Amino acid sequence: MSEPIRLARPDVGDRELAAVAEVVASGQLTMGPKVAEFEEAIARAVGTAHAAAVSSGTAALHLALLALEVGPGDEVIVPAYTFPATANAVALCGARAVLVDVDPDTFLLEPGAVAAAVTPRTRAVVAVHLFGRPVGWEALQTAVPQDVLLVEDAAGALGARYRGTPCGALGVAGCLSFHPRKIVTTGEGGAVTTDEAALDAAVRRLRHHGWETLGDMPSPGFNYRIPDLLCAIGIPQLERLEELLRARERVAAWYTERLEDRVLTPRADEGDRHGWQAYVVQLERRDEALEALRAAGIEAQIGTWALHRLAPYREQGSFPGADRAFARALALPFATTTTEAEVERIVSVLARYA
Ligand SMILES: Cc1ncc(COP(=O)(O)O)c(C=O)c1O
Repeated sequence: MSEPIRLARPDVGDRELAAVAEVVASGQLTMGPKVAEFEEAIARAVGTAHAAAVSSGTAALHLALLALEVGPGDEVIVPAYTFPATANAVALCGARAVLVDVDPDTFLLEPGAVAAAVTPRTRAVVAVHLFGRPVGWEALQTAVPQDVLLVEDAAGALGARYRGTPCGALGVAGCLSFHPRKIVTTGEGGAVTTDEAALDAAVRRLRHHGWETLGDMPSPGFNYRIPDLLCAIGIPQLERLEELLRARERVAAWYTERLEDRVLTPRADEGDRHGWQAYVVQLERRDEALEALRAAGIEAQIGTWALHRLAPYREQGSFPGADRAFARALALPFATTTTEAEVERIVSVLARYA
């Protein structure tokens, strides 16, 4: 059998190794200068005044919502089709995650359905730029009253842009992930981006047990810190963000050329830039295709989850858009280093089911 093809391959190497070696030699493995350096690079890339780095994308969502004082009695609108952490973060604040259906073609929140789900208890919407595709931000803004907070789950959208504005800079807070399937990875990691100094300060306090800089602890917090060791891995990748994005755009174009007449291929709206966290197509015979790809040594995967099928979010009604996406979405192997020959091999198997 030919070489296996992995679903994702982080673009890390000698520069990251050297950066880690430097941190090891310094003896300061956490709470040192690399965290601040990484945060400055994130804020520059996203174009926000602040970025607070944390231990994961899930921690970023949890802390952003807590810093916004989302809590018991509040409702927070989330898409019914997303990675479960989007809704879990809401539930872990003691608030209710209100599922809203998605457009099955784009995987993104339906503004009309968002408007219909707003109640006097609605505090926020967590809008997910799923797989890196920017949410239609203006339509979302007009779907909710002005006092409803818009938070971005930009876990997979570092580098993506909505009409020129980077994802992560659209809402009151943006939540990034640096998991290995993301464009920039630290192994595990995340960040909250914002223009609001008070929000940034609250995230920083809550990620570090609740300590305030001058020694008081107004409320209990977590240890959601990210170590210097991991920030050192992220810094050289952020320096190459544009190069990494272009490499992914090239791989996406190879797939799209070969697949757009056979299956539903992903794209961004006109005027937007896709962040290409993943390359996710849709087809009727998804399960057969998935099985055949795996049998051929190709590590494909379903897209993500329909939350109303998971125990904590059952009994909120039916979500046909999320169901359709859950049944049809197929993530293909995708990395900056994916070759055109690999794309050919993957497409030759997939084409039998399309
Ligand atoms: C849309 C979305 N939100 C949140 C997360 C959580 O990020 P992490 O795995 O860094 O906790 C992910 C990660 O896969 C994601 O895809």
